[in-house]
Amino acid sequence: MLSAEENDYLCRVGPGTPMGALLRRYWLPICLSSDVAEPDGPPRKFRLVGEDFVVFRDSAGTVGVLDEKCMHRGASLAIGRVEDCGIRCLYHGWKFGADGTIQETPNLPDSRFRNRLRAPAHPVHEAGQIVWVYLGPADKQPPPPSYVWMNVPPGHLATTKAVQKGNFIQGVEGEIDSSHVGLLHQTEIALARTGEYDPEGIGRDRFPTTDDAPLLEVEDTKFGFHYAAIRKLGGEQEGQSYVRVTPFIMPFQALIPPMNLGFLYVPIDDTHTCTYVVTGDPAKPIDKADWLKWRSLEDVQAPDYVLHPAQDREAMVAGTSFSGVAGLIPQDALVTDSMDLIVDRSKEHLVAADIAVVRMRRLLIDAARAVEAGSDPVGLDGSVDWAKFTAGSGVVPQGVAWQTLVPTNVAD
Ligand code: FES
Ligand SMILES: [Fe+2]
Repeated sequence: MLSAEENDYLCRVGPGTPMGALLRRYWLPICLSSDVAEPDGPPRKFRLVGEDFVVFRDSAGTVGVLDEKCMHRGASLAIGRVEDCGIRCLYHGWKFGADGTIQETPNLPDSRFRNRLRAPAHPVHEAGQIVWVYLGPADKQPPPPSYVWMNVPPGHLATTKAVQKGNFIQGVEGEIDSSHVGLLHQTEIALARTGEYDPEGIGRDRFPTTDDAPLLEVEDTKFGFHYAAIRKLGGEQEGQSYVRVTPFIMPFQALIPPMNLGFLYVPIDDTHTCTYVVTGDPAKPIDKADWLKWRSLEDVQAPDYVLHPAQDREAMVAGTSFSGVAGLIPQDALVTDSMDLIVDRSKEHLVAADIAVVRMRRLLIDAARAVEAGSDPVGLDGSVDWAKFTAGSGVVPQGVAWQTLVPTNVAD
């Protein structure tokens, strides 16, 4: 439970907000590389943490991210022309490079003016099929993003994204909330036990338990925290536990076992979220069509793409679908979309199964307060190798620590 003031502090991300200032200290995904695939292709407008940007790929293949509105008199650069290694505003023809250099001001022939100024361009890094942008103070820019899922050979990575209504925090909360898995997702989980549902294509980790009330244990780490959902096993495995370890990686990423399925809930603004779903398979190439099918996702980036279809009430009554929607990701979206745009967390009744959710909220609030007080937020002291953090799952014998499933998460 949070007070209304704390909830606001946690959820508001626009310019000038403490949470917005915290998020701007990290590299943020602004779009997929495929959104601006072609050099000199059309520019695209994207909203991120309550601000509008234009993203374009210049003639040399370099991606530029500039404030959307032209610095001259505010026309949108998203209707501009991308040509000759820059983006040209249609209104008076000013042309800007990806680095913000003002290349031409044709309605002002004197070049001294343009040499004195720079367009608001932001640092860009392409990795993991994603265009990342840094919007924070120049002297605080961290090393480029590097996560376990992006460090795989070409062809072993699949990424997609979708726009969801609702604040980003409720999306994150769904990924660090193990106790809903055997309930909301029970239709797929039952099929996973028989081997009929195997989205990872690995034929293992069949969720071998019907314990729907896992014990949660949280441990802080250099990247945020990870937590274990510990479920009892029966029969021959009596006394052992089935454990799923999920890291929460600052500021909005979770990795889901067994294959480090990554979810990044990136705030578009206070009430819209861009959800990135990513998988890198070190062992084999990923067939993206197959990957999308198992995830019940479509490779559609249209702004009105909704992650879930309408509920099939007949299937719910017939007992063939618990939720009336097929697929884990659409089921999660169905639930988070059903909430208020910003959940009123002063009205909740939290239980022990919610301790990872509680930890995430507190971590973000404390980190935003630390930034307000002039400190560096979690993970940005220069000593953290983000690429070694993983999810993990498996059967853990009695007396063995669950951290053995994810040894690199806690090793120095
Ligand atoms: S508004 Fe862009 S060049 Fe004038
Ligand atoms: Fe879920």
